[in-house]
Amino acid sequence: MSTYETILVEQKGAVTLITLNRPKALNALNSTVLAELIDAFAKFEADKSQGCAVITGSGDKAFAAGADIKEMVDKPGAEFFSEDFFAGWSSQLVKAVRKPWIAAVNGFALGGGCELAMMADFIIASDTAKFGQPEIKLAVAPGMGGSQRLARAVGKAKAMDMCLTGRNMNAEEAERSGLVSRVVPLDQLLDVALKAAADIAAMPPLAALINKEMVNIAFETTLDTGLLMERRMFQILTATEDKKEGMTAFVEKRAGVWQGR
Ligand code: CAA
Repeated sequence: MSTYETILVEQKGAVTLITLNRPKALNALNSTVLAELIDAFAKFEADKSQGCAVITGSGDKAFAAGADIKEMVDKPGAEFFSEDFFAGWSSQLVKAVRKPWIAAVNGFALGGGCELAMMADFIIASDTAKFGQPEIKLAVAPGMGGSQRLARAVGKAKAMDMCLTGRNMNAEEAERSGLVSRVVPLDQLLDVALKAAADIAAMPPLAALINKEMVNIAFETTLDTGLLMERRMFQILTATEDKKEGMTAFVEKRAGVWQGR
């Protein structure tokens, strides 16, 4: 297992737990964090023993309080453009990871922190979690998907409210708005997220990949095309050995044993 400067990575059975580990900076996301997350997620993706990942923040206060403002404060504008700053979050992390992963949000998830949480397949939040896109207060705007993923998750009214006022949304409002799937007490957050991840990791792996892909396609295409692709994906899965096993195991009233083919 690799050693990193800004994140911790542990394997818990078939689940990879990734912890953002810059508690003194409220786990702010700098270039090192991005490079290390890309590396850790690539290893998770390649490791056949791993079926699902959980990302969380160290300490009780923050998941991540945003992109690292101290890294950006003196950076010339032309460099942000020439480096295509923030591009790697989508291209090397979100798009490169086909296996499911969950964000366990344990406190502030602001700016890039909220955006990172929204990159995950779903969010489980502690009752202390706070979500926000406060970039406008820094005279900028979200740059890692905040305006786009938030609008898709909670709709125009809430997304506009959040981005234009820069206010925080608490866990209860986030659950009511569809941003998070569950809210649990802080002291149960990791157990609940790891249990959900272990349940996913125990599923037939090809079906897990396709279920994730299909829900994501719903945000990219028309209903007709999405429904056609869904049927085709269903039909493709019926040709797997795991489908034969899954349906036979149901009929025989026993648990299925998956081959991943
Ligand atoms: N970047 C760098 N350092 C940060 C940080 C960030 N985003 N957020 C917090 N920190 C640092 C603080 O500078 C402070 O460090 P020092 O002790 O060295 O001064 C330490 O973390 C603790 O923070 P505070 O003293 O501010 O803690 P607080 O409890 O008073 O406030 C907070 C907590 C409300 C989350 C506040 O820290 C805050 O507002 N943080 C910034 C939130 C923000 O604007 N995020 C958006 C960043 S831009 C972005 O993310 C762009 C994008 O779209 C990707």
